[in-house]
Amino acid sequence: MTDDRTPSAVAADGFPTGSGGHDPEALRQRALDALLTARARTTVLTDSVDEGELTAQHSPLMSPLVWDLAHIGNQEEQWLLRAVGGREALRPEIDGLYDAFEHPRAARPSLPLLAPAEARTYASDVRGRALDILEAAPLHEGGRPLERAGFAFGMIAQHEQQHDETMLITHQLRSGPAALTAPAPPDPTDAVSLPAEVLVPGGPFTMGTSAEPWALDNERPAHRREVAAFHLDTAPVTCGAYRRFMADGGYTDARWWAPKGWDMVREHALDAPLFWHRDGGQWLRRRFGVTEQVPDDEPVLHVSWYEADAYARWAGRRLPTEAEWEKAARHDPASGRSLRYPWGDTDPTPGQANLGQRHLRPARAGAYPAGRAPSGAGQLIGDVWEWTSSDFLPYPGFVAFPYREYSEVFFGPGHKVLRGGSFAVDQVACRGTFRNWDLPVRRQIFSGFRTARDA
Ligand code: AVJ
Ligand code: FE
Repeated sequence: MTDDRTPSAVAADGFPTGSGGHDPEALRQRALDALLTARARTTVLTDSVDEGELTAQHSPLMSPLVWDLAHIGNQEEQWLLRAVGGREALRPEIDGLYDAFEHPRAARPSLPLLAPAEARTYASDVRGRALDILEAAPLHEGGRPLERAGFAFGMIAQHEQQHDETMLITHQLRSGPAALTAPAPPDPTDAVSLPAEVLVPGGPFTMGTSAEPWALDNERPAHRREVAAFHLDTAPVTCGAYRRFMADGGYTDARWWAPKGWDMVREHALDAPLFWHRDGGQWLRRRFGVTEQVPDDEPVLHVSWYEADAYARWAGRRLPTEAEWEKAARHDPASGRSLRYPWGDTDPTPGQANLGQRHLRPARAGAYPAGRAPSGAGQLIGDVWEWTSSDFLPYPGFVAFPYREYSEVFFGPGHKVLRGGSFAVDQVACRGTFRNWDLPVRRQIFSGFRTARDA
């Protein structure tokens, strides 16, 4: 069988048979760190605004922040306290309120939600019990699937971080002065000498993973894919390049647009990425409560799949497929293996990728030379989520785990895959195999793109 790391530790369903070759005590520590890191971020996001702003609906696209907070606690209770720990429900009456499938986001403010103080107490009560369970959980070989390699703990840390990104989107949508601040990301050092695109040679590579202990169900199992030679942009498309598309009438020419994208442009009178506005001869943007000039050399952010697709067509190019993106990000021609990250198998460092809300914006195109892949492409991890041309579909051999509502119910042509994570993604929820998805009209997410062409 083929695999990206340790075939002997992989079950037929693609899940680790044990700790995946890792030491259970190291995984226990890793799970503890990941849970604490996530909670520190949740606290920043929910303590930086007042009670009125926690319960307000800043956009019909988003939940009130206090919903995310209690939902984080409720998911943790369901998976770590009840499923792993075998405990009774703490507050069985609230499960329905925090079930994302029962209530659409726009309806959540009118539910009898826990008030901010109650939501905080609930989340911290759950956390105290979850840490007791983690301390005693057998994470070793032969254990129950949820506990093996600490999977449920890693899944819940990722879930909290995903909602932290969602809450950061809510912060970006809220009006009023800045509630969050962060230093600027590092500048590029050798951007001028970078080629515009890299050539990825044709041939098979290993896509997905069977060995990564906390990879989610949709990333599994590892399998071989044939990818023909193609060229890929070295960096994500910048605001400056996108402005040339705008200046060339990109939003007024149906030629560049998928039919549904053209409908969207006309219905909403779109003429620029979300959060941009024209001021005389210049373009300004609002970013976390600050209005500033659009920076030409930063990756474009807050564009829908339709806009990315139209830009690529205008440029005489196309979006990469998901398999192309992953091959450019992970395939190491020297060893024939697929790496965990573009730079290798080690966890991200601040010098390799813009992750974890350390900065509140993407770094300029050409930054993070230490994060480049063997293909030569850079900024694949962090900065901006990158739209691919692909629909969100299961890999051959997919098995829903541990619940169908994480991935399976979203498979199909309605959702497009995004890869690589953004500055708002924590490293626990980001790796070369990680798959995100959304509707092709979405623009409030931290989305950008790069383009490709056949070789
Ligand atoms: C994988 C980011 C699309 O936020 O809708 C959170 C993650 N799933 N709670 C989302 C998720 C359940 C999901 N995305
Ligand atoms: Fe959730």
